Amino acid sequence: MKSALRRVPLARPYLDEREEELVLEVLRSGRLSLGPTIDRFEELIAQRVGAPYAAAVSSATAGLHLLVRTAGIGAGDEVITTPLSFAATANCFLYEGATPVFADVDTRTWNVDPAAVEAAITDRTKAVIAVDIFGYPCELDALIALCRRHGLTLIDDSAEALGAEYKGKPIGSHGPPAVFGFYPNKQLATGEGGVVTTHSEELREELVSLRNQGRSYSGGSWFDHVRLGFNYRWTDIQAAVGIAQLEKLDELLTLRSAAAARYNELLAGVDGVELAPADDDDHRRSWFVYVVQLAPELDRARVMADMREGGVDVAEYMPCIHLLTYMRERFGFTEGLCPVAEEISRRTLALPFFPGLEADDQEYVVEVLRAVLER
Ligand SMILES: Cc1ncc(COP(=O)(O)O)c(C=O)c1O
Repeated sequence: MKSALRRVPLARPYLDEREEELVLEVLRSGRLSLGPTIDRFEELIAQRVGAPYAAAVSSATAGLHLLVRTAGIGAGDEVITTPLSFAATANCFLYEGATPVFADVDTRTWNVDPAAVEAAITDRTKAVIAVDIFGYPCELDALIALCRRHGLTLIDDSAEALGAEYKGKPIGSHGPPAVFGFYPNKQLATGEGGVVTTHSEELREELVSLRNQGRSYSGGSWFDHVRLGFNYRWTDIQAAVGIAQLEKLDELLTLRSAAAARYNELLAGVDGVELAPADDDDHRRSWFVYVVQLAPELDRARVMADMREGGVDVAEYMPCIHLLTYMRERFGFTEGLCPVAEEISRRTLALPFFPGLEADDQEYVVEVLRAVLER
């Protein structure tokens, strides 16, 4: 292919004067951490996802780790999770010495299959970490029921799913604690950051203590450390960006849905490309990345290289966790452990996708993809 006419990035945050205004207010207030802007953000996000409590943290990984801590998960315990996710979904319990057990995903939803989870339970199983992959809600009702039956903790890694709905209610409102992430490619972008939403006041208080070096929740002195904690604090500057993003979250989600619908139309009839799982009555996706599946006979590495040469940034969202180098080395996982997830992961391709993506850039992306596939 000749040198690219234009370049289309994979992701870009959508920020305007409102973020600048609120950040400036925080800078001028002098309250850069542990301040009122974080409290306000927590109130607003809790309302938004329909959970009574929220604890903001420095990243979604930090939030997941704290939930693993508060569940008392440690060495000798097994945690069942999906292989089709980002490494942090498993790292959060490896930090505590627990052992990963991967249950395969459902062919239709790409999320962990509750029957596979149930089949993987042993007397060492302590928890299940489900993921709403690419913003598509996981099978919460079945997972809640089976965790209840077996006395297991359920954590929803919703890092990619702010705004998604399961059975007509937002992810975060269904009972189990959920963790959302705010990295710049996310639906709500603050640079870094995350939040745990929960229905338990007690859990929220523990999280607030743990994120702040284990300081007493109930207003002890600055050096009153009542437990071993972490520095997983977020800053008020990031919270200011978060409030501005929350104010326009509906607009951001609508722009993402519109861009996804436009891609769906442009890609209809392109040979060799299948679309990601569609919404149904129970599952309403919040669009995070726009991922398609290439036909099995196509060489994805070549497609990616050619698309980049054509000026289109793409990514292989996402490799299976159990096949990452450190997982293979440490636990001896190999291909064949989770064949459904492995097949999906081998064929996925993420196209440029963000709220301000222009229609003509999308047309260009599809034109380049079509040309690459026809070669
Ligand atoms: C499913 C999932 N879990 C966890 C994380 C970790 O998020 P963070 O980068 O905020 O730690 C990500 C990040 O992209 C993710 O996609």
